[in-house]
Amino acid sequence: MERHLVIGASGQLGIELIIGMQAKYGVNAVVSSDIRTSEDADVNRGEFILLDATDQKAVRKVLTDGGFTHVYHLVAMLSAKGEDNPLEGWELNMKSLFNVLECAKEGLVEKVFWPSSIAVFGPNAHKQATAQDTCCDPTTVYGVSKVAGELWCKYYFEHYGVDVRSLRYPGLIGHRSLPGGGTTDYAVEAFHRALEGKEFECYLDENEALPMMHMDDAIRATLELMEAPIDCVRVRTSYNLSGCSFSPFELNNEIKKTIPEFKTVYSPDIRQQIASSWPDSIDDTDARADWGWKAVYDVEGLVKAMLDALKR
Ligand code: SER
Repeated sequence: MERHLVIGASGQLGIELIIGMQAKYGVNAVVSSDIRTSEDADVNRGEFILLDATDQKAVRKVLTDGGFTHVYHLVAMLSAKGEDNPLEGWELNMKSLFNVLECAKEGLVEKVFWPSSIAVFGPNAHKQATAQDTCCDPTTVYGVSKVAGELWCKYYFEHYGVDVRSLRYPGLIGHRSLPGGGTTDYAVEAFHRALEGKEFECYLDENEALPMMHMDDAIRATLELMEAPIDCVRVRTSYNLSGCSFSPFELNNEIKKTIPEFKTVYSPDIRQQIASSWPDSIDDTDARADWGWKAVYDVEGLVKAMLDALKR
């Protein structure tokens, strides 16, 4: 029987992945772990294990005792927070990954999922429809850790047969929690301000387009990749994944269709430099060809779904 463990389960992506997997595989087949408990009642229906993913012995014990077939290792310090704490970001992102990969190498789990990001790209990548195999010259510690992590995942697959799979997520937009420490997170905040009837102060330039994705698409992509037959998974660094793309100005206008009084003011800070080094949009031809990926949400659908969900 399949047993799924999510490490870093109390974060923005973890909460949504747990709930998606509970619906698909049953509550008892999904276990969450983190250094803090989740405040989400749905997540808390399932088993929770307190776990510091940087503690090698603790990770090994959980994976030895738990009988997990699948591990989703989501622990990371995101782009903006990582620039404030470069060495801590590197340490957290890499050490926790090695702890999981080493256990997988020993055969303690069958499959590993590890998220990468559009942050692997840097100023020299083509901005529009950025290709899978274009140059990766990130300017953030987060991006550097994701490029290194991708290459290590490939190494563990090729040298030790570890079935580790990965996606380069765009900015993820979901209603269940506020994200923390990312550059794309402005977009989630905008919805909250709009529904509070408040002006939104955006830390990016109004025309800074970024690749984005509704959480439902991200969770579906994750589970589709994990369920794909092993021979279909040809990219062993990490797959480009495309949802939709918009700028703060376009988001403002789309929200205004439902909340006409919504207003965004722009005060770009250091995060604008990070955003300007990333692609505007992504080419995900390989994901489509290899395991049949196709996004559902466009900008209009994403905005409608977020406003509806947050109103509820
Ligand atoms: N959402 C992430 C960030 O902004 C990018 O993967 O840091």
